[in-house]
Amino acid sequence: MMFDGLLRASRASWKYVSAMNQHPASLAWAALPAELSNAIGILLEGRGRKALAERASHLSSGFRARRSSQELLRGEEDALAYALTRLPATYAANAAILRRLLAEAPAFSPTSLLDAGCGLASASFAALEAWPNIGAVSLLDKNPAFLALVEWLRASSRHAALVKAKLLRTDLAAIPGGDAEADLVVASYALTEISDGALGVVVEGLWAHAREALIIVEPGTPRDHERLMTTRERLIRLGARIALPCPHERPCPLAPPEWCHFAARLPRSRDHKLLKAGEVPFEDEKYCYLIAFRNTSPPRGARVVAHPRASKWGLELRLCGPRGLKQAIVAKRDKASFQIMRKVVWGDSVPTPEGEEKP
Ligand SMILES: C[S@@+](CC[C@H](N)C(=O)[O-])C[C@H]1O[C@@H](n2cnc3c(N)ncnc32)[C@H](O)[C@@H]1O
Repeated sequence: MMFDGLLRASRASWKYVSAMNQHPASLAWAALPAELSNAIGILLEGRGRKALAERASHLSSGFRARRSSQELLRGEEDALAYALTRLPATYAANAAILRRLLAEAPAFSPTSLLDAGCGLASASFAALEAWPNIGAVSLLDKNPAFLALVEWLRASSRHAALVKAKLLRTDLAAIPGGDAEADLVVASYALTEISDGALGVVVEGLWAHAREALIIVEPGTPRDHERLMTTRERLIRLGARIALPCPHERPCPLAPPEWCHFAARLPRSRDHKLLKAGEVPFEDEKYCYLIAFRNTSPPRGARVVAHPRASKWGLELRLCGPRGLKQAIVAKRDKASFQIMRKVVWGDSVPTPEGEEKP
């Protein structure tokens, strides 16, 4: 194996912050806030699990076949099945992304939020955990089943901004001006349902409503990553600064069969396990994402784009850096660096390999 660079953790300008702890015993940050789980629990009281399991299986096969939630979610039982099986996963992906953003851009602190294609507001619940100071939230969706349930669930939040969030029943292609503008706009697992032909207009609308930043979260599939890279080019043309996960604004260097995606491990509740017929008490949600800032961008290291591998020499890292893809090693003999860097996980930002300039 060829290595393009050595990594050292002792650079004066750099402090490694592991945003993630993926150990099953330390997944509290990836679990739904207690008040949200309790609110879902109340709705489940006295309800047969068999019918819900059928709806859940219908939803997951439908989403796998890329049918839209407009087609799949037609009533309360569908929305509840989503709350039990998909909401925990999309929440965990959002929580993971926001933890990274907090670690890498600690000065960013939005006070208003537009959750576009909100569904059951996983992005908003995660954002309020990250920035409790958010004072105004708009929840936008066009699906009546989602909107009816989210109206009830958001009332459980311990954050006033979410309890009094404005609900906007509208299409992503026609977001109203004025009130819907926000410091931070998030579209979580929503653009995946927009056709290729309409995607550009929707992205431009989202960007126009983002005063400081736009976060797009998508399923971690090759198709969604490819579309996300088209969106990235469009945002760069509109003057956006790409903040995470990319350490540069050049075309993505990952070519098929590789694609840029990450994974969040989340705990499964008893009902979640039951409805998914799962055996292990956790699942891994694959996602891809993009964070674009309007004015500033956090300092960039290189992104770890695969699980690090332990070898007899040390730790092998697949990195996306300012000059493209690299294979780097943290040598065991460099004890000080190795002690710090062995905590690195897939998705983290690390210093650029030696000799590689900043973009
Ligand atoms: C898979 S769900 C994701 C929900 C939620 N954001 C999450 O992360 O769990 C996709 C959401 O996008 C919404 N959506 C899709 N197309 C839309 C459109 N054209 N206008 C408004 N909402 C849309 C759907 O109604 C649904 O709530």
